[in-house]
Amino acid sequence: MIRIPHIIAHRGASIEAPENTIAAFRIAQVRGVNWIECDVTLSADEQCVLIHDDTLDRTTNGTGPVHHQDLASLRALDAGAWFSDIYKGERIPTLSETLDTLAALDMGVNLEIKPSGCDAMVLARRVAAEIGNRRDVPILLSSFDADVVAVMAELCPSLDCGWLVEEIPGDWKSRYETLKAAALHVDQKQLTAEKCAEITGEKVPLICYTVNDPDRARLLRSWGVRAIITDNPALMTTAIPPIR
Ligand code: G3P
Ligand code: MG
Repeated sequence: MIRIPHIIAHRGASIEAPENTIAAFRIAQVRGVNWIECDVTLSADEQCVLIHDDTLDRTTNGTGPVHHQDLASLRALDAGAWFSDIYKGERIPTLSETLDTLAALDMGVNLEIKPSGCDAMVLARRVAAEIGNRRDVPILLSSFDADVVAVMAELCPSLDCGWLVEEIPGDWKSRYETLKAAALHVDQKQLTAEKCAEITGEKVPLICYTVNDPDRARLLRSWGVRAIITDNPALMTTAIPPIR
């Protein structure tokens, strides 16, 4: 499994900057975290763009489904003003712009492949085409979509892809092996000491989201969680020492 740090900034430093923007990624690094998590989906013209929701309404000045608008329309939107006037003018980043920025900053990325209403297999292929030959950014892929996890092992065999789950299925181990996943990414609310021991006992790298409480992060760390994904990298870097 690729080497990852113990803290990853969720959608960038999303507690203090608009999520999934270049500004949020830059601030994560200023706060001492060199890896970010971000969400990638498709525009109507099948370009890879970063946004979390299915629709534009919450995090931009646009409305309606993301995948109904082409790249030019999406790029014309403001993706920062909803958060604060300071970030007015931030745009929805493209995947290639993001990777170029991260490469220049010497940062890594947990790239969550999020179909959000678009065709999952087209998205998987478009992501693979964009990242396939890049060696300048450390990348850990992940997806809630099990079909995407399975196909990424074929499309990008040199990259690791984690399987994201909200609840841990009873048959998680056999499904994990079938998918050829490289890590299990779990909602931290599902984790107990026993569950962590079961997962790490199988030598499966365990990553959890979204942890903003330092006490909870320390506990998860003591249970063997390899990395926590947090909205608040500034707080976590000061509170949580690196995992051995
Ligand atoms: O990748 C971890 C986390 O981002 C998964 O949930 O909904 O925040 O994308 P969500
Ligand atoms: Mg995500």
